[in-house]
Amino acid sequence: MADMDGIKEAKNFYTDRPQECEGFFLKGSNSLDWGIKNRLARIFNPVSGRTVMLAIDHGYFQGPTTGLERVDINILPLVPYADTLMLTRGILRSVVPPSISKAIVLRVSGGASILKELSNEDIAVDIEESIRLNVCAMAVQVFIGGEYEKQSIINMTRMVDIGNRYGIPTLAVTAVGKDMARDAKYFQLACRICAELGAHYIKTYYVEKDFDTVTSSCPVPIVMAGGKKIPELEALTMAYNAVQQGASGVDMGRNIFQSEAPIAMIQAVGAVVHENATPASAFDLYNSLKNKG
Ligand code: R5P
Repeated sequence: MADMDGIKEAKNFYTDRPQECEGFFLKGSNSLDWGIKNRLARIFNPVSGRTVMLAIDHGYFQGPTTGLERVDINILPLVPYADTLMLTRGILRSVVPPSISKAIVLRVSGGASILKELSNEDIAVDIEESIRLNVCAMAVQVFIGGEYEKQSIINMTRMVDIGNRYGIPTLAVTAVGKDMARDAKYFQLACRICAELGAHYIKTYYVEKDFDTVTSSCPVPIVMAGGKKIPELEALTMAYNAVQQGASGVDMGRNIFQSEAPIAMIQAVGAVVHENATPASAFDLYNSLKNKG
């Protein structure tokens, strides 16, 4: 046997060097299990500690959203510039090539459409599907203050329980009803509830006033939701303000794929998120990439 025959002198046990015990780079995540941390480290860049998630899951409740009519034509060219794709299993299986190495965040809640009460969701994907599809996280919508608040919270806690069993993180997506105030107080409440009940990270909206109180009172990472399409410079400014005030990245959809130049826009967002580019320099980058075509 090779080891038996080995010469003792050739080995180095580094007996004078204690084994390093590395802390995990993500807020509030140090006590998680190896598999969950490894998946989170595929979503969040371990160097910047942040992520650019490209959200294209809109069809699960509102059909062929503008910009998502043909995911194969409009979205696949953006994939190289995203850290993560957030989408449904239907689009994943039917359109996205399995050769991509990007982290997948799978939408697992569903069951309501824009024609009815949106908060009336259930868990719409079995855990076996998430395992089979090799996803890095499962996304569940949580409607704090919504008509089906409790049901949506329990959807999330169920996924946290099941995901913990198999090492798959759960992303809680805070949804805001039309008639609810979008302010720091509401998002503090929504994010904190999701974190207390076990979500591994949380997607929430940016608010102009006191967004830093939303991130600081949430013990796990927050990614900023994009929301409806606004001019590019405004979207870059919003992303900049969010990450400078403690967000661990963005999960943007329409402000990327509905941009006049989506490939340029996703790279500009990446500069803001990973390189702390200012809104002005990111906008310059956007324009120069756009002009290059
Ligand atoms: C809803 O809340 C979903 O997660 C969306 O389909 C999506 O992620 C929203 O992205 P955006 O608002 O940036 O278009």
